[in-house]
Amino acid sequence: MDIRGDKILILDFGSQYTQLIARRIRELKVFSEIVPFSMPASEIRRQAPKGLVLSGGPASVYAADAPICNPEIFSLGIPVLGICYGMQVMAHLLEGKVSSSARREYGPARLLIDREVDLLSGLEDNGAPNGTPVWMSHGDRIEKLPAGFVPLAHTDNSPVAVMGSPARRLYGVQFHPEVVHTPKGGVLFANFLFRACSCTPSWSMASFAAEAVGEIRRRVGSARVLCALSGGVDSSVTAVLVHRAIGEQLTCVFVDNGLLRSGEAEEVEATFRRHFHMNLRVVDAGQRFLSRLAGVEDPEQKRKIVGEEFIAVFEEEAGRLGEIQFLAQGTLYPDVIESRSVRGPSATIKSHHNVGGLPERLHFQLIEPLKDLFKDEVRRLGKELGIHGSILWRQPFPGPGLSIRVLGPVSRETLDLVRQADRILLEEVEAAGLLERLWQSFAVLLPVRSVGVMGDERTYEQVACLRVVESQDGMTADWARLPYDLLSRVSNRIINEVRGINRVVYDISSKPPSTIEWE
Ligand code: XMP
Repeated sequence: MDIRGDKILILDFGSQYTQLIARRIRELKVFSEIVPFSMPASEIRRQAPKGLVLSGGPASVYAADAPICNPEIFSLGIPVLGICYGMQVMAHLLEGKVSSSARREYGPARLLIDREVDLLSGLEDNGAPNGTPVWMSHGDRIEKLPAGFVPLAHTDNSPVAVMGSPARRLYGVQFHPEVVHTPKGGVLFANFLFRACSCTPSWSMASFAAEAVGEIRRRVGSARVLCALSGGVDSSVTAVLVHRAIGEQLTCVFVDNGLLRSGEAEEVEATFRRHFHMNLRVVDAGQRFLSRLAGVEDPEQKRKIVGEEFIAVFEEEAGRLGEIQFLAQGTLYPDVIESRSVRGPSATIKSHHNVGGLPERLHFQLIEPLKDLFKDEVRRLGKELGIHGSILWRQPFPGPGLSIRVLGPVSRETLDLVRQADRILLEEVEAAGLLERLWQSFAVLLPVRSVGVMGDERTYEQVACLRVVESQDGMTADWARLPYDLLSRVSNRIINEVRGINRVVYDISSKPPSTIEWE
């Protein structure tokens, strides 16, 4: 038996919300996987999912190049839930009629239930006689239902907002149950999973870990595996998982490039060598990186140098270790999906920031045990594996490290200044209990000096800028409205404790148009 238990396949028609559908289903403890809309019916039958979800999508079913799935999928005896475009594809393929609506419908609407069926059980809102709030985003609508389908609910603008053929367990909803603006969307998914598909809610991080460990053991056999440990969440969880599977056969390499945050190298060593008893090689390569960065001002040049040098160091280490067949890498599900078009999976998977190009150069086979997981799931898995919160909640940190947070040329001294300021900011943010709410909080050292006065002395020193942002995914971000007294504590401490900085400023730019990092 598949230890993951029951599975739902989500056929992706290109909606921006497809990943959310996968998350909602997994939150209900059922494993779900996104596949291209064009997956053949024979392959779907082979995988034996308990249910199918057809995602939304930007097209109109009548457009010349509209993505259309194989109609056979409706005859497999597997329950199907079509969402928005997915509902229209279902109606279209089962010989109903879809037409472009006189009024397009975007945003909130009220769903009124016309027929009590399992799928809609618990969705009616007794406190709101005007209907349950749902989120709409469509131009086309169902004009004529396919044979055997009945209308189940409507909104002002959509006479058929939900349709179904309960006998065949085929359903379509015009609204988006996966978004937060449909507060009862979770109830609808639960009805589909547990009533229509008879799923058992058994997907958990413990079952995932057990399965992943078994799979890694089978694949690796008695071979050896290398893992580039950065100390971040993804590579840490990967290393611990692989270690649980094959123990001594794993060697982790941690490259201390001299561009890390305060205490980072020590923490990695304490965690992985002393706590988890892993084979860990810490390579002290700070001097190498620093000499190559000397005098370099251009941010992209800094990135290129750090990337190249990392690969050089890593290759040397790998060479010293003898025969190694596999490289373990912390690729996550969003990385896999991002690089895939709706027309089918592309061959290229976004490579991990720090090890880009390594597998090809060293002829490694890849082990990517997290490639089915979202970030929050990786954190839950890490917790399950006994990894400390200070690693699991670590903020994203760029591969080029502090070299792109010292504006202008980098030196040991300036790196040290920014590292100290950064440590103070992080300490205070953590003490205020804000760490988990923030996407990133760090210091940047500006290449300007300003005049100050300390005691009776005039100072002429550098400026630290605090960059603290909230964000969902790093694509957009807003500056955090930190309490003034917290900002004041941070500023006082930096100016008092860090010799060489006599002024602290706060960055109040959002992304876009600014970026999160300064370089
Ligand atoms: P920006 O500055 O583009 O950053 O708004 C978005 C997110 O990406 C991180 N970042 C990087 N990560 N190598 C990395 O591994 C890089 O060169 C790099 N540049 C930016 C940044 O910290 C933020 O979380």
